[in-house]
Amino acid sequence: MAIPKALQRLIRPCVLDLDAYSPSVAIESVAESLNISVDDVIKLDTNENPYGTTLRVQEALASFDRYHRYPDPDQRVARERIAEYAGAPFERIIMGNGADELIDLILLATLDPGDEVLVPIPTFGVYAQRPPLFNGVARLVERQPDFELDLDAIEAAISERTKVIFVASPNNPTGNMVTQQQLVRLLRTGALIVVDEAYFEFAGKTLLPFTGEFDNMVVLRTFSKWAGLAGLRLGYGIFPLSLAAQLWKVKQPFNVSVAGLKAIEAVLDDADYLQESVKRIRVERGRLFRQLRKLNFLQPFPSQANYILCRVTRGDAHMIQRRLARIGILVRHYSSPDLRDYLRITVGKPEETDVLIAALHALAEEV
Ligand SMILES: Cc1ncc(COP(=O)(O)O)c(C=O)c1O
Repeated sequence: MAIPKALQRLIRPCVLDLDAYSPSVAIESVAESLNISVDDVIKLDTNENPYGTTLRVQEALASFDRYHRYPDPDQRVARERIAEYAGAPFERIIMGNGADELIDLILLATLDPGDEVLVPIPTFGVYAQRPPLFNGVARLVERQPDFELDLDAIEAAISERTKVIFVASPNNPTGNMVTQQQLVRLLRTGALIVVDEAYFEFAGKTLLPFTGEFDNMVVLRTFSKWAGLAGLRLGYGIFPLSLAAQLWKVKQPFNVSVAGLKAIEAVLDDADYLQESVKRIRVERGRLFRQLRKLNFLQPFPSQANYILCRVTRGDAHMIQRRLARIGILVRHYSSPDLRDYLRITVGKPEETDVLIAALHALAEEV
């Protein structure tokens, strides 16, 4: 959209240069445009938990009666519960308004103008999108053809200005993990290594124990995926103590709402129930993978998370995504050059898999 001259002068060039980023369309808007019920939309584009969260969250939020008070800026009770759940010291945990906010907070605390952030791609788009807003530079380093980290290329890309390296494990969207050996090599670079474990519960493997040994490592986690709380925006990070002290200084004091803090307690009271839905998703991931593999125009990649990346080997990925959207099935398509020929499909309920697979078979005639 054209911007009036007078306003243009007031906006930072890095903001004017930024592409609008919209990861998805609200489910209500999709339902309205297709004239169907929200419950009939098959939403497989943002890696949410299709089973939702535990009823205890609704109960806890309905019976809470101090919404007129600001939340605890120390997030004490919720952090104690997270410490117990994650097996990490309370003092090293900071909660964010989603893991997304913690990504910004790390950049805010580390970047001076011109400092660099290394981003092995393809990966979660936010890592490369945010550094310019903090006057930093995102340096993209391609992964290997099988999406493993290219450590030689990462080491070669390191400069005196490199402050942060983001790696997700499992990686979004490729679904593969960072190994311990890869992590140790990354840690030895001396940069701050942010290991984003947003999908940890679906993989069951963590690199968290390394945070006790190395003071240049952060682990990020979220309640958006496994715990079905994407709408409440609840993430946490496990930081070296000395870095945590700096982040407390730059964090907005009331970044996590009282509703969010209460929801953490309710969710962790019922973690076993939620782990059951994680198990169901893991089983369904295997079935979805096998079904996708049967289609002669898709090549699915094995995944440790709650989504499967597929290379479109015949036909056009964007066209397929649009055709599915027209019948109320949402999958993720990318405009970035590294992922233009790919679709990412969130693991849904078995009946959603069935509808998706039938639609893809019908499309196979046309691509
Ligand atoms: C790798 C990764 N990190 C972080 C996030 C954001 O998590 P949150 O919802 O807690 O902001 C996502 C969400 O898609 C993700 O894929």
